Amino acid sequence: MIEFRDVERTFGTTRAVDGVSFVINRGEVFGLLGKNGAGKTTSIKMLTLQLQPTSGEIFFDGLPIRGNELRVKSLLGLVPQHLNFDRDLTVEENLELHARLHHLPPNERRERIDELLKFVELERVRAANVAELSGGMKRRLLIIRALIHRPQILLLDEPTVALDPQVRRKIWELIGELKRRGITIVLTTHYIEEAQFLCDRVAILNRGRLVALDTTANLCAGHSLEETFLALTK
Ligand SMILES: Nc1ncnc2c1ncn2[C@@H]1O[C@H](COP(=O)(O)OP(=O)(O)O)[C@@H](O)[C@H]1O
Ligand SMILES: [Mg+2]
Repeated sequence: MIEFRDVERTFGTTRAVDGVSFVINRGEVFGLLGKNGAGKTTSIKMLTLQLQPTSGEIFFDGLPIRGNELRVKSLLGLVPQHLNFDRDLTVEENLELHARLHHLPPNERRERIDELLKFVELERVRAANVAELSGGMKRRLLIIRALIHRPQILLLDEPTVALDPQVRRKIWELIGELKRRGITIVLTTHYIEEAQFLCDRVAILNRGRLVALDTTANLCAGHSLEETFLALTK
């Protein structure tokens, strides 16, 4: 479904992503696991057309994403690493704004927003200012905002950073539910247990390089994922 082929991105002398190739299959939960600075966000930004690769190419259903921007954007939903709501707007207005950006017709907008608020139990706070929400609520809102236009693939960049353990669990449950609904999920994380719990396959990135890619079960075989990860990312 998605293929990175020899993808490289440099910033000056920094090789943020250093010749990475992998394939993400339809319906799976695919994890990019790596420490801070490993190149996870840069990879996501190239996939979402916010950054261009310095070399190499990314394909979506066999077609290069460059030249097919509109199609790719309609099929992808992005949950960015940093909250980027309009803080002067309410929960509902933030969703409305996003729905407009995706050209949803007005009646469909209402229906979709109601459905999504219900899905993550945020109906109660629909008229509240985003700034008033708890950390977990903000994360849930960020996720449903990315789902507004019914993307086939949801990209989550560090979806549970700085959340309490119970709130993290809730987000994990939500991601599991989205998978059951048939959405392909790509997530980045630096939490080993998060990758282990959620992902069907995990790619380990270290300093821009792909150092392992396998099913979570295989990466854990004989030892823990933590041992594998620590050995590969020294
Ligand atoms: N816009 C940028 N300008 C310069 N260096 C950058 C930029 N974005 C990322 N980098 C560098 O690229 C490397 C990878 O960063 P990033 O992809 O954000 O890693 P991660 O998301 O895994 O923490 C880091 O060394 C980071 O400092
Ligand atoms: Mg990052």
